[in-house]
Amino acid sequence: TRYFVPRDTTALAVGAESVARALAAVLQGRDDVTLVRNGSRGAFWLEPLLEIERDGQRVGFGPVSAAEVPGIVELDTQAWASHPLCLGDLQEHPWFAGQQRLTFARAGLDDPLCLESYLARHGFDGLEHAVHLPAEDIVDEITRSGLRGRGGAAFPAGVKWQTVLAAQGDEKYIVCNADEGDSGTFADRLLMEADPYQLIEGIVIAGLAVGAQRGFIYLRSEYPRAWEVMHTAIAKAEAAGYLGESVCDTDHRFQLELRLGAGAYICGEETALLESLEGRRGLVRAKPPLPAHEGLFGQPTVVNNVLTLAAAASIMADGAQAYAALGEGRSRGTLTLQLAGNISRGGLVEIPYGLSLRQVVEQFGGGTRSGRPMRAMQVGGPLGAYLPEPLWDTPLDYEAFAAMGGMLGHGGVVVFDDTVDMAAQARFAMAFCAAESCGKCTPCRVGSVRGLEVIDKIIARDDTDTQLALLNDLCDTMESASLCAMGGLTPLPVRSALQYFPEDFH
Ligand code: NAI
Ligand code: SF4
Repeated sequence: TRYFVPRDTTALAVGAESVARALAAVLQGRDDVTLVRNGSRGAFWLEPLLEIERDGQRVGFGPVSAAEVPGIVELDTQAWASHPLCLGDLQEHPWFAGQQRLTFARAGLDDPLCLESYLARHGFDGLEHAVHLPAEDIVDEITRSGLRGRGGAAFPAGVKWQTVLAAQGDEKYIVCNADEGDSGTFADRLLMEADPYQLIEGIVIAGLAVGAQRGFIYLRSEYPRAWEVMHTAIAKAEAAGYLGESVCDTDHRFQLELRLGAGAYICGEETALLESLEGRRGLVRAKPPLPAHEGLFGQPTVVNNVLTLAAAASIMADGAQAYAALGEGRSRGTLTLQLAGNISRGGLVEIPYGLSLRQVVEQFGGGTRSGRPMRAMQVGGPLGAYLPEPLWDTPLDYEAFAAMGGMLGHGGVVVFDDTVDMAAQARFAMAFCAAESCGKCTPCRVGSVRGLEVIDKIIARDDTDTQLALLNDLCDTMESASLCAMGGLTPLPVRSALQYFPEDFH
């Protein structure tokens, strides 16, 4: 019998460690059992999740408390189903059966650091395939898959890789952006904690594709568990010959290093990230030059998000066509939505692009946690728009979201019930920008502070009409004159709050 208790950040935060300890105590002295510390499957509303595998069956129980462990362990296999916390085979549970998992297909199934388990589930197939291909063919496969950057900007990954492949440089680099800073997002963390070898595989494939022999993962310091897992996974992958002097017994070399950020949101912006990697303060650089031409240490550099690089591994394993067959319009493959905020069943949902926001939030999210009516959803992180009910039918694809004035971004969805004060949310957008601005350009550095003052006056009902006109002007300036998305997109949540929820400002 094998027992599984996740050791992922979210599971640990809700008591997985005490469940594991209780389980170890009950199972002490038994040599016919194994306790596996797996990653999470991303159904955070079911954590701490306890799974039991026996006689070819694997069933889940959750959320489980330490006190409930002895009772569950005592059950005969036939009695599992009648236990009130039994969820049955999770693959068949509606919350999972309704998803189409590619990038997160392995998440939560095994010990994330067990290389044998990764290999048994087709791990490193993509790299084994890519390592014998000319660089152009790898880039071509990624281009044909339609993969677009998953950090939020959705730039075609194949075009970026082609640019770096064609660029001249003494050395080239792959930089993985793991500085996941958007509110309500956790997909990068989940991937790193549940399936770290997939990310390593994707990074090495990117290296082969563009002719880079060194890579860096820039990880936010708020993710200590992801750091531990990635750190060990890199060492084990190197020992097994997937990194280092000879990749898969070929002449290809690839060295991968893990670097830790220091908690600045702006270091998720690619040029500030490069500055930070080079040892300087995270100040945004003007583009051009693009990092693809002059990036890390002035050399051609691929900067991609965790999920983009991880997807490259499955594309190289299963082929561009299988990936491109999913999705809608120019948004191909799968979208990893992260349901957070006031939501009943929060967690990670991987689905093909094209379903509507309402469908996903109703089908998977199950309404608000408070039980009160849903009033707004913010999609795309703190720089994303607040969406009112009539816009929830927008299909989840980049173009459809842009067309209605929103942004899909990195796929974070934060749900609010009818007690939300949208003026306070608009204020928060400016306050966030004021706190996180790198300070390089005036519209953002000064604009956000002035914006905060103006919104405070609006909230105090102090000459509201004049202040609203001022705020509108200020948003125009920030949008058109900021150097990067931080200042340029802050008006989006502010304006959407004003436009769709005007009653909260008067
Ligand atoms: P961008 O549109 O300027 O660039 C997107 C990417 O494409 C960059 O890597 C850029 O270097 C590259 N690129 C553009 N033109 C190219 C060309 N001709 N050849 C090769 N490469 C080219 O967007 P940016 O400023 O990098 O990102 C903004 C987005 O970041 C926002 O839309 C937001 O969704 C997202 N974001 C994500 C966060 C997260 O935590 N994941 C946090 C904050 C924002
Ligand atoms: Fe820095 Fe803000 Fe200007 Fe971006 S918009 S460069 S974060 S000051």
